[in-house]
Amino acid sequence: MDSVKNEVKTYPAYLTGEWRESQSQKTIAIKSPWKHEVIGNVQAVTQPEVDESIQAAKEAQHSWAKLSLGDRGQYLNRWADELEEAKDDIATSLMNEVGKNFKSAEGEVQRTIDLVRYTVQEALHMHGQSVRGDGFPGGSKNKLGIIERVPLGVVLAISPFNYPVNLAASKIAPALIAGNAVIFKPATQGSITGIKMIQALDRAGFPKGILSLITGHGSEIGDYLTEHPGINMISFTGSTQTGKHLSQKSIMIPLVLELGGKDPAIVCDDADLDKTADNIVKGAYSYSGQRCTAVKRVLVDDKVADELVAKLKEKVENLSVGSPVNDSAIVPLIDDKAADFVQGLIDDALDKGATLVSGNKRDGNLLQPTLLDNVTEDMDIAWIEPFGPVLPVIRVHSVDQAVEIANKSNFGLQASVFTQDIDKALEIAGAVEVGTVQVNGRPQRGPDNFPFLGVKASGMGTQGVHNSILSMSREKLTVINLKP
Ligand code: G3H
Repeated sequence: MDSVKNEVKTYPAYLTGEWRESQSQKTIAIKSPWKHEVIGNVQAVTQPEVDESIQAAKEAQHSWAKLSLGDRGQYLNRWADELEEAKDDIATSLMNEVGKNFKSAEGEVQRTIDLVRYTVQEALHMHGQSVRGDGFPGGSKNKLGIIERVPLGVVLAISPFNYPVNLAASKIAPALIAGNAVIFKPATQGSITGIKMIQALDRAGFPKGILSLITGHGSEIGDYLTEHPGINMISFTGSTQTGKHLSQKSIMIPLVLELGGKDPAIVCDDADLDKTADNIVKGAYSYSGQRCTAVKRVLVDDKVADELVAKLKEKVENLSVGSPVNDSAIVPLIDDKAADFVQGLIDDALDKGATLVSGNKRDGNLLQPTLLDNVTEDMDIAWIEPFGPVLPVIRVHSVDQAVEIANKSNFGLQASVFTQDIDKALEIAGAVEVGTVQVNGRPQRGPDNFPFLGVKASGMGTQGVHNSILSMSREKLTVINLKP
């Protein structure tokens, strides 16, 4: 299936149910962020091939939607079985391609297998409603409305580099179980791993054309896909900039966008500081901070700031740094550009008077975990999402000031509140403008049965298994006008 040239594989795209080389005869080299060498090539798919895939998806979708829910579930469960068989290979690919440490990569694949199976179960337990007209003034009891959910058609699923398996499947599985066909566009860095997932799906024997995998540069086919009249819904995870662009380009179709974050950890003066520090460090630095839900700023009460910073420093300095093969917590960033960006934010903060507590050392795209104290609102790091291993600490005088700074951000994904006073926790939770508030815990998307959403520049629409199925289907009302 894969051709090999000088030990570097060239992977085909999966178009209309066939593994093919693109007519473009162009490929894109994928370089490992930590091996610093090309680990494979993927196809640069053309616009006519996009048309062909969408046409095939449309045709396949009609018979797919006619299958019983149980039958669609069996296909998906077979996909989960195939993913399980290929778990090691997919996890290794994930580690090589995006630099996630092996333990986390394996965890991501397992989480995905569980998600696919859970999605089937969730759909099997969802059902429609009926309503009688006499509930409305003057309405007739003889009108019986049957409300069912029907698929939207062809879903465009665009996944990011940082969760190439889980954030792809969390779009593909609900789309398919709801009766849609899928056009899957993985982030270019992450395409090889995406291909491996879809090889597993192919082995599960899905009907031809029900899913096509389009690899290629977003700059060449991104807008074409987004504006394509054959696409009926888009589910995207990635940067706020791309999400905004996509929402301007797409035309009258539902969108679910999971974008950036600047999640604050609000630390009150009564917090359990050991547990708080533990959560903040895991939340901020895992996978080198390349997570939308990473803790991206600490807003700590002055009274406990010294003590908290000392605890954070100790933990940050104990983080393992290096290669993903050794399960290091801190791994090289996705590319040099990302590392330059993070370094720029650190330099700006230090120039403007932030205190360097730890870190600020760099070897190419591998940055030491960096902790900055006494960060103030004039520094870029107070507002901009670094997507890297740097954490700013902003000292505040009161809960009100913490909430004010938290809400000044353009982002609104999640927030953590650390306090032992449940009333205070609920008051802060009510005041912060975010999708999710974590009380005494770090921000995170999972468990995957929870709703997951961002407000403001962090996104729109809600994910999580149940909500994703809802967002990829619509209500259809049939009214039976009974004899009077
Ligand atoms: O990067 C964005 C992801 O949705 C974060 O997921 O909280 O499971 O790391 P996570």
